[in-house]
Amino acid sequence: MPRILSGIKPTGRLHIGNYFGMMRPAIDWQEKGEALYFIADYHALTTVHDPAALRANTRGVALDFLACGLDPAKAILFKQSDVPQVCELTWLLSVLTPMGLLERCHAYKDAVAKGFAPSHGLFAYPVLMAADILIYDSDIVPVGRDQKQHVEVTRDLAIKMNETFGANLLRLPEPSILPDLATIPGLDGQKMSKSYGNTIELFLEEKALKKKIMGIVTDSTPVEAPKDPATSSIVALYRLFASPADVVQMETDFRAGGFGYGDFKKRLFAAIWEHFAPARARREEIERDPGFIDAVLRSGAERANALANVTLTRVRKAMGL
Ligand code: TYM
Repeated sequence: MPRILSGIKPTGRLHIGNYFGMMRPAIDWQEKGEALYFIADYHALTTVHDPAALRANTRGVALDFLACGLDPAKAILFKQSDVPQVCELTWLLSVLTPMGLLERCHAYKDAVAKGFAPSHGLFAYPVLMAADILIYDSDIVPVGRDQKQHVEVTRDLAIKMNETFGANLLRLPEPSILPDLATIPGLDGQKMSKSYGNTIELFLEEKALKKKIMGIVTDSTPVEAPKDPATSSIVALYRLFASPADVVQMETDFRAGGFGYGDFKKRLFAAIWEHFAPARARREEIERDPGFIDAVLRSGAERANALANVTLTRVRKAMGL
């Protein structure tokens, strides 16, 4: 049975890029192997320095993930920082990590370009991520395309460790990236990302969601004129939620003319609202049971700790500690 692992940073509310790129594939994987999913609070600390916000976001990620269908009877859900052994493995990997490898990582370059102070934590981020993956002997890592390079770094580090300290010391993981969902576009057509301010959060109030959708950037083609469905963010997003027949209908109406963008946005809103109706109901249920999330995370932490200790003990021994 393959072991599947992935993580998500509690830096804000989850959006539909997270949902299609990672959460839904992860939820599908929970049926096919031993799945471990964690809330990457150590990673979030590279940019979030407000303890109350970090705690609230962490809880929010657990709530949203459970509402979307993560089943704690099938998958292990835990907080990254409940397994501090990953920090020790990070150090053990660091001693073999070439500076050049990290210098090439785009996430660090992007963060600095966005104005974050270039800290050691931000620079060493991929090594912590490698430790996350390697400490659980993971086979498969479901992620969006933006994380592909980090899984490649993980493989490079595992190979180096195995060459230096013993073949088969660390298991080599494979990323799992669904081609159609690898990069979900945001309201402006760029990759959906908190840092671009173009996100659609999963559990917005009805009015707030409507407002976001109505705010999708469009050109000034008049209502009567034909429009190009191939270049429209509305159509790109609609494809994620609507039935194939409804998508064809929207594409036909785009080409025909006579429909304004406002009309298409209303159809998109309705499709998103309907898609998340069952998850919204589950979310309300979970919120009525305040002990549930704590219990899930506590039990997840226990199980993750047991698995992490096996690898860490093996690596310490192999390295002479
Ligand atoms: P994070 O929190 O930025 O994103 C969580 C997951 O959502 C995916 N994603 C997207 N996929 C498609 N289209 C988008 N617009 C989009 N936006 C986000 C991301 O690819 C990711 O899979 N470093 C990781 C967290 C992490 C991790 C790990 C992941 C830490 N350790 C170990 C896997 C294994 C991150 O920042 O994800």
